[in-house]
Amino acid sequence: MRSDDVEDVEIRLLLEGVQRIYGYDFRDYADASIKRRLNHWLAESGFDTFSQAQSQLLRERSVFESLLRGITVNVTEMFRDPTFFRAVREQVVPFLKTYPFVKIWHAGCATGEEAYSMAILLNEEGMAGRYRMYATDINEAVLQKAGEGVMPIAEMQRFTRNYQKSGGRASFADYYTARYDRAMLSPALKQHIVFAPHNLATDGEFGEMNLVLCRNVMIYFKPALKERCLRLFDSSLLPGGFLCLGLKESLERRKMGERYEELAAPLRIYRKRYG
Ligand SMILES: C[S@@+](CC[C@H](N)C(=O)[O-])C[C@H]1O[C@@H](n2cnc3c(N)ncnc32)[C@H](O)[C@@H]1O
Repeated sequence: MRSDDVEDVEIRLLLEGVQRIYGYDFRDYADASIKRRLNHWLAESGFDTFSQAQSQLLRERSVFESLLRGITVNVTEMFRDPTFFRAVREQVVPFLKTYPFVKIWHAGCATGEEAYSMAILLNEEGMAGRYRMYATDINEAVLQKAGEGVMPIAEMQRFTRNYQKSGGRASFADYYTARYDRAMLSPALKQHIVFAPHNLATDGEFGEMNLVLCRNVMIYFKPALKERCLRLFDSSLLPGGFLCLGLKESLERRKMGERYEELAAPLRIYRKRYG
């Protein structure tokens, strides 16, 4: 047997063990990317092989937590893909404004930049106090960071450019206070965001949402897990609600796609049809 094949078997056993002991199911993550992430974790962990790691991994939660941090890709930024946020501002918010109150779910929010960007946008569009956001992620370490709302000051130039390109109406500097090498987001932005753990592979829906965003998360999943997520979003969304996917993800050629109209091609913003 080639060593590659041995490693594939070891990985399968490891993911099976993790699922059984901790209830976290990574078996439907795309093979190439999870293999890459696991190998990176192994190299850092000091174990020589996955078989060697298995025993401690299954017995010590802290080892599992380091694996969880290693598996998930948490890259994000404020106003990521500014043209997407411009389309939300111009084409989605006018519909949201017709409701007295809206509920929004950011699935796979990482360190919270997407939710904070949305809070800025909604406040600027006159919706302050008229929304609640649920921002969820599988990785509790990133949720902790999200709740702090602190970012490296070095990122602020890039985020300012994104904000301006997205149609921001104020000065981005109004939304944070600089302290040494860090930028602290204005606490008012957190007021209506609930950061909470949620696993798209195993957990249930969030009821009666007007807007669901899941961007740059399903690219790491196999088709069966993507389908699970899309069913979850569909059952969470009210008729007339909006589904926003990442620029590399789409509803086209999916059965469920018939129940949605694409509002802003190619930005992956869909609206759930009535009836
Ligand atoms: C690349 S980030 C995307 C962040 C943000 N949505 C954006 O587009 O900038 C992907 C996030 O998905 C999360 N994730 C991965 N698997 C998940 C799962 N099964 N359930 C919930 N979140 C998951 C990761 O922890 C990570 O924070």
